[in-house]
Amino acid sequence: MDSVKNYINENKDRFIAELIELLKMPSISADAAYSQDMLNTADAVKNALEKAGCDKVEICETPGYPIVYGEKTIDPALPTVLVYGHYDVQPADPIELWESDPFEPVIKKTDIHPDGAIFARGACDDKGQMFMHVKALEYMVKNNVLPCNVKFMIEGEEEIGSGSLSWFVKNNHEKLKNDIILISDTSMLANDTPSITTGLRGLSYVEVEVTGANRDLHSGLYGGAVANPINVLTKMIASLHDENNRITIPHFYDKVEELSQAERDEMAKAPFSLEAYKKALDIDEVYGEKGYTTTERASIRPTLDVNGIWGGYTGQGAKTVIPSKAYAKISMRLVPNQDNHEITELFTKHFESIAPAGVRVKVTPHHGGQGYVTPTDTPAYQAAVKACQASFGKEPIPVRSGGSIPIVALFEEELGSKSILLGFGLDSDAIHSPNEHYGIFNFLKGIETIPWFYHYFVNK
Ligand code: BES
Ligand code: MN
Ligand code: MN
Repeated sequence: MDSVKNYINENKDRFIAELIELLKMPSISADAAYSQDMLNTADAVKNALEKAGCDKVEICETPGYPIVYGEKTIDPALPTVLVYGHYDVQPADPIELWESDPFEPVIKKTDIHPDGAIFARGACDDKGQMFMHVKALEYMVKNNVLPCNVKFMIEGEEEIGSGSLSWFVKNNHEKLKNDIILISDTSMLANDTPSITTGLRGLSYVEVEVTGANRDLHSGLYGGAVANPINVLTKMIASLHDENNRITIPHFYDKVEELSQAERDEMAKAPFSLEAYKKALDIDEVYGEKGYTTTERASIRPTLDVNGIWGGYTGQGAKTVIPSKAYAKISMRLVPNQDNHEITELFTKHFESIAPAGVRVKVTPHHGGQGYVTPTDTPAYQAAVKACQASFGKEPIPVRSGGSIPIVALFEEELGSKSILLGFGLDSDAIHSPNEHYGIFNFLKGIETIPWFYHYFVNK
């Protein structure tokens, strides 16, 4: 296994060149205009898995975008690691804020990435991180050090809710049987501070529509006499938080797990600089639920946020109008034990109940999912710890993340499998934002760490 560093040194230029080819493919699952690119990307992932040494690779058709599935079985008596990742990416917009074309990858040095980072949509989330597993497999197969069986399941709908993967998992229990699921689709604290993600938040996402009169009205003739849906909607939204920034939906916090002081103290040991945090975001103060630290607010506490709001006249100049309709997209990040369906119901009931007479309210649920916590007292988690020690020379810190990968809870429910969230991105890598990038250091460190995970998972 000590040969992994050499193998990476000899092959890193090719690894990077191959990743760049994958990043050129605009696999945007949210936009049907890219559906052919999605299929092409699935093909490219299939070819990459074949080249890396999987002996059975298939494109699995689904009601939506295909899932790329691959296997390498060396001995059915040995354990099986199931690698999950996604080949779809977020839309690139706002495109004008990119310094280079999102699908023409370029390598640039940054303060945080002095060895260079690849700038492209999907560089970190998740093509770059998924591809580390393909290259780690290549190393293990070529050098005869793969210590167990491996399965790959790379989906194309993570960014739009994993609808087809849920269907696939429910229908393929036997095929997907495994001893542990390994995922690199999260972040770590810093390049010199390895960490392992031990929790993900759940998600409830809804769209709301407020309707007033049956048509847009002259705001002079009717203003003041009928409900303005935008005025009403913004007032309703404002009422969803109280003066302590707690969410006012009745029973919203009923199932929230309160961490003990000891657990919170443990969390507070992870390095975090509020000053650096504020500086990086160009804000003079943080904002959030009273009684919790910034780290806690962004990981172990539930939230409610408006993601977008629209209605009325937003064109040039002024148009005097009372719009007939107003809309908003609202997401709630949930913590373990909060059930996303239940929260969507509580939201809907409450939102309907606070609507004043004179408007009608419609709530439409989008996708969602449950949160997840990885137990740390398992051989699999300990293998990840030892793997980081081997590659970084440092003990990794357990960190609860604020992000969501809803399918992880479903893996546990359907397959009875736990997941190890061994991510190598940084929060500053601008995933979902313009100028997304992934450090070359991070990409190569991931490839180096993964074989150690296999090693320690099998040789406990
Ligand atoms: N890879 C991210 C989730 C993530 C990123 C978790 C960094 C932890 C650290 C994933 O692709 C993602 O974007 N998830 C969405 C939810 C999904 C249902 C669209 C999210 O968290 O908003
Ligand atoms: Mn992702
Ligand atoms: Mn994402």
